[in-house]
Amino acid sequence: MRRPIIAMNFKNYINTESETTTLFKQMKQELTSLGNLDDMDVYLFPSMGSLHVARDIFEGSSISYGSQNIAPEKNGAFTGEYSIESLIDIGGDVVEIGHYERITLFNESRELINKKIKLTLENELTPLICVGSEETILEGNAFKEYMQDQLKSYFKGIIINETDNIVLAYEPAWAIGKKEAAPVEIVHNNHRLIREVLSELMGEQVAQSIHLIYGGSVSKENAGALVASKEVDGLFIGRFGHDPKNFREISKEIIMKKRSE
Ligand code: PGA
Repeated sequence: MRRPIIAMNFKNYINTESETTTLFKQMKQELTSLGNLDDMDVYLFPSMGSLHVARDIFEGSSISYGSQNIAPEKNGAFTGEYSIESLIDIGGDVVEIGHYERITLFNESRELINKKIKLTLENELTPLICVGSEETILEGNAFKEYMQDQLKSYFKGIIINETDNIVLAYEPAWAIGKKEAAPVEIVHNNHRLIREVLSELMGEQVAQSIHLIYGGSVSKENAGALVASKEVDGLFIGRFGHDPKNFREISKEIIMKKRSE
């Protein structure tokens, strides 16, 4: 059984120690008020300069945190990058890889993304890999072909076991930073197609062990409908979840929908 996931990307929206401390305390409180969270994974990706705040507030709790990017190797001459050694040292256990903004603003190649996935798995951390970040709306066979190509290069030379904890976030570029999320029907169908491609590439058992979540303009209004499919294991939230009350509402939707499946 795959565990439901709520993940949140803070990008560079909330950057100071004081803002982050206040927000993270509120978020922890809101989540705690929902009761037993043992059956859901919570992955938060603070602005990179605030990872120490996440450690101070979430260490020892069931809330996991991680970095929005990682250097492709453990250590060495990678000026300006963030090392997985630092992340492990600060208690992080999840790494966001290949976000649309990393690809478009910082020119990340598929080869580089492949190295980051490899490194993360070798260090027994969870990679949260953004996929499907196409500018145009792709569906059906066109989407499947795109995913075959992308996943083949992302997982090149990597042997995946069903015990590896891997999360794929389907994040269509055309739905990131918008007023509305992608239409529910496209999200559900494309998740099913991603699982089909995974099964072709890795076998059915491994494919079934990989978590698939949706990201792109998720809000408390659309969360319930987006996760109302067995193919959607959770949500990856940006702007509309930064308010702790909204974060609570979205978490509640995920918990309720997944419990009733
Ligand atoms: P958004 O961000 O919800 O603000 O669109 C999502 C993301 O980029 O992961």
